[in-house]
Amino acid sequence: IFETVSKAPADIIFALTADYKADPHPDKVNLGVGAYRTEEGKPWVLPVVHKADKILVEDEHLDHEYLPILGLESFRKASAKLILGADSKAIAEGRVGAAQCISGTGAVYAGASFLAKHYPFKQAACYISKPTWANHRAIFEGVGISVLEYPYWDPETRGLDLKGMLATMEGAPSGSIFLLHPCAHNPTGVDPTPDQWKQIADVMEAKGHFTFFDTAYQGFASGSLDKDAYSIRYFVERGFEMFIAQSFSKNFGLYSERAGNLTIVTKTPEIKDRIESQIAKAQRAVISNPPAYGARVVSQVLNDEKLYSEWEENLSTMANRIISMRQALFDELKALGTPGTWNHIVDQIGMFSFTGLTTPQVKVLKEKYHVYLTDNGRISMAGLNTKNVKYFAQAVDDVVRN
Ligand code: LMR
Repeated sequence: IFETVSKAPADIIFALTADYKADPHPDKVNLGVGAYRTEEGKPWVLPVVHKADKILVEDEHLDHEYLPILGLESFRKASAKLILGADSKAIAEGRVGAAQCISGTGAVYAGASFLAKHYPFKQAACYISKPTWANHRAIFEGVGISVLEYPYWDPETRGLDLKGMLATMEGAPSGSIFLLHPCAHNPTGVDPTPDQWKQIADVMEAKGHFTFFDTAYQGFASGSLDKDAYSIRYFVERGFEMFIAQSFSKNFGLYSERAGNLTIVTKTPEIKDRIESQIAKAQRAVISNPPAYGARVVSQVLNDEKLYSEWEENLSTMANRIISMRQALFDELKALGTPGTWNHIVDQIGMFSFTGLTTPQVKVLKEKYHVYLTDNGRISMAGLNTKNVKYFAQAVDDVVRN
């Protein structure tokens, strides 16, 4: 029956991890997947997560019963509070909903599939940044929403193409869906300033576009969880309705536990209830109910003052090591006199740097130097450490010169 099924291409990010693992070369470097690594190049279980693990293991009252379809209530509430702020007016007014989802991907999917079914502008396209995380296109197209792009990265300035972004927002049919990265943009590491967010919000409001934020790096951009939520809170203050997909994979290091949340900001508590009910109905048919463990860990930490401040310290450890690697890479390239400008390496923020390396250069890095990164030149800074940064800089120097 299945003779006509063709082979799907491998996922670009996970294929890189597999290729890296299969490579026996002793100097191989994995700068592909956005996952934190220690100075020793190892995954890191956050000490605060260890503590939460221990509390959960020792809790005799915990069982393995099903969670409700929308997930663990203490997790959903804490997630919404984390992103909107403890003093959020929208929360106080009862018009913020939340659904626990299968991490960020599941949250984007839950929001996208809701829009595919219930968004009143039936022909609306979803605009994603050019470039963006590859899964965005796949998720929206997968639920039948057509995907268009808005300019974001300006290769000339190696910064934000605000003019192009605003022009596309202005030209898009009213009621279009715009997927925005609130902080630590993946893959460019370039974020709008508060003044630029204001200009973006002005156009989004004037055109009646729908805002869909996807946040996977809260805590990695400015060094403060609150500051990293600036754009979202600003949009909420201005009265936007919106969806916010939240992932706890990176900021809790809970990659495989799939802890995520879709926060929903609406006009009234009644609309919030109705949307939640539809998301619950859809979620029941896809995953029935979400897994408990990751959500319990996150909830434990977010709802305990002491653990929360320990989490902030753990986050600083990760963010600061990444910042020091940016500086180290910049210094090495400068010392080598590598042609081109490299200030963007230190100017960009978050887990990634968009190096400007071309696809053919990336190919040489992989084949000659056993360095793995995505074809668009994105590197995960967390894959660098004091032992491999020189090797990587020399490899970059070679591919840029030849
Ligand atoms: C990445 O961009 O590398 C991460 O978000 C991992 C993923 O799921 O693609």
